[in-house]
Amino acid sequence: MKQTFNRTLVTAALPYANGGVHIGHLAGVYVPADIYVRYLRLRGREVLFICGSDEHGVPVTIRARKEGCTPQEVVDRYNHIIRESFEGFGISFDFFGRTTSPTHRQLASDFFRTLYDKGEFVEKESEQYYDEEAKTFLADRYITGECPHCHAEGAYGDQCEKCGTALSPTELINPRSTVSGSTPVLRKTRHWYLPLDRHQQWLEPWITQDHKDWRSNVMGQCKSWFDMGLQPRAVSRDLDWGIPVPVEGADGKVLYVWFDAPIGYISNTKELLPDSWEKWWKSEDTRLVHFIGKDNIVFHCIVFPAMLKAEGSYILPDNVPANEFLNLEDKKISTSRNWAVWLDEYLKDLPGKQDVLRYVLTANAPETKDNNFTWRDFQARNNNELVAVYGNFVNRALQLTKKYYDGVVPARGTLTDFDREIIGEFTDVKARVEELLEGFRFRDAQKEAMNLARIGNKYLADSEPWKVIKTDPERVKTILNLSLQLVANLAIAFEPFLPFSSEKLRRMLAVGEVKWDELGSIDLLAEGHQLGTPELLFEKIEDSVVEAQVQKLLDMEAANAEANYRANDIKADIQFEDFEKLDIRVGTVKACERVPKADKLLKFTIADGLDDRTIVSGIAKHYAPEDLVGRQVCFIANLPPRKLRGIESQGMILSAENFNGELSVITVDREVKPGSEVK
Ligand code: MF3
Ligand code: ZN
Repeated sequence: MKQTFNRTLVTAALPYANGGVHIGHLAGVYVPADIYVRYLRLRGREVLFICGSDEHGVPVTIRARKEGCTPQEVVDRYNHIIRESFEGFGISFDFFGRTTSPTHRQLASDFFRTLYDKGEFVEKESEQYYDEEAKTFLADRYITGECPHCHAEGAYGDQCEKCGTALSPTELINPRSTVSGSTPVLRKTRHWYLPLDRHQQWLEPWITQDHKDWRSNVMGQCKSWFDMGLQPRAVSRDLDWGIPVPVEGADGKVLYVWFDAPIGYISNTKELLPDSWEKWWKSEDTRLVHFIGKDNIVFHCIVFPAMLKAEGSYILPDNVPANEFLNLEDKKISTSRNWAVWLDEYLKDLPGKQDVLRYVLTANAPETKDNNFTWRDFQARNNNELVAVYGNFVNRALQLTKKYYDGVVPARGTLTDFDREIIGEFTDVKARVEELLEGFRFRDAQKEAMNLARIGNKYLADSEPWKVIKTDPERVKTILNLSLQLVANLAIAFEPFLPFSSEKLRRMLAVGEVKWDELGSIDLLAEGHQLGTPELLFEKIEDSVVEAQVQKLLDMEAANAEANYRANDIKADIQFEDFEKLDIRVGTVKACERVPKADKLLKFTIADGLDDRTIVSGIAKHYAPEDLVGRQVCFIANLPPRKLRGIESQGMILSAENFNGELSVITVDREVKPGSEVK
């Protein structure tokens, strides 16, 4: 039986307050959530949009330690930055709170206590690393050592960033505490676990049978968790930053951040609506929808529902539209490498262009697969779609009306067949956009809105009012009346997607609030209505602007790499004999050419003292073939030959890599005989 809902509670993942928010966050969570909420509000539905910052967890304490301040200072700062970024992009939360608020701490603590009293946890003892110097248990991230798989130094207790393997701290070779530098010891500790294995019986049919409408990426992840069999999950940690475990004798233990954070949705609702929050969380006719990124699926589809069910008085989510990831210029967005477009920076660098980013991120929304953001595509979508299609149509309709009728909406005469055909094309856009939005298909929904502008351009191009005005001025009144109705429709259709532009457009049309229900109507503007002053809705973006943004990305990444360079990133010690096995020689470059169809490769012919040897090297982005001819380079002479693009490469040319990724070939200071050894 399908439930009937009377209100919708929309949540967006609580961003961690240990850093800012970037375009990946916006594309994956906040823009789609905002579109959805704005749409529901326009339809006059009862809706609440809740978010806040996620302020506990180990990364906050790591940052505080690095910066020499308190964790509270860290989260205060980022809560503020995040809040301003979202505001700047028009993300229209009803409330943006935080998980360090007293309301939250109390509610999360009570929630834990309820589950504890009901016997919903199991207690288990385990061994964990303890730092005897700092007198503290160590979170996984606080332990580094050698990766057992790739043997890189500096792997973390939860994962090796060199080879990407997930680790547990006890797997590390030569573990070290990053707090004191000492070698940690294993100590017994007790924790509370949520026995998800007990919940699988109801969770599995609840998702796979009762929620067949969930996105396939979400369903797929849930099924694979079920197939592996759910395991108990620890909900407490030995840490001094967080909400204390409200149980006798649990000193030094706090709630695990993933236990308290989702409760933040509830506590933030309560903070906003102290008297009526329960209506949003405890009545069956409320529909709960969580917007998240794909890395949060298990917590929102499995762990949090299990917590809610165990507590017993709360509703469960009706849908969890999770997005895949957005890449940036073909690389994974990474905060640790500072490969990201930060929202606060964007707002400073490109003021007034919030809607452009909203538009581009929705057009490229990673709804069904990972997607890619490039500044070139950003520019192209702005110039070819927002300016050339949407802006152009609006501008022509308004300018012609100004020119012929002083900006007063002319009367509509008899409609031609062509007029009727055009009207027919846009009257059902409402139903189409609705269906797409209700199905969380924001990308296609926005395309439908844009289609209205395409229809408008076609109408003007085919009916040619600027010519007809000379022969049949009455007809022009009808053409412009209909065009203006279409412009007003655009203001409504784009309201959820591009709120700033819709507002500007409404000002140009001199109309106030619009209603979704009027979408598709040709009677939005009355005959005789005086329009406002036409302005350009969007502006062209020049090459120099996007080129500067690409350069900024590269510079930020390089500066970050430089800052992160530390002696402890140096590879593990080797024996002198190992070094002696390497045969490095100097050779003179006799010839060099590009390798066809390989934009990174150059093929060198090198005099090595005995013979000529061929070496293929991946430096074509940094040197032109003629640059190095006649120069002396260093190469490794005793590597096994390797085939690259069908060419046998007999060695490796050495070069230094700058922090920004630039390569610089190693040469010799004075000319030497080809074949000289490098020692
Ligand atoms: N802070 C988490 C993240 O950015 C999301 C927390 S969502 C909540 O991945 F449900 F826990 F609040
Ligand atoms: Zn590794």
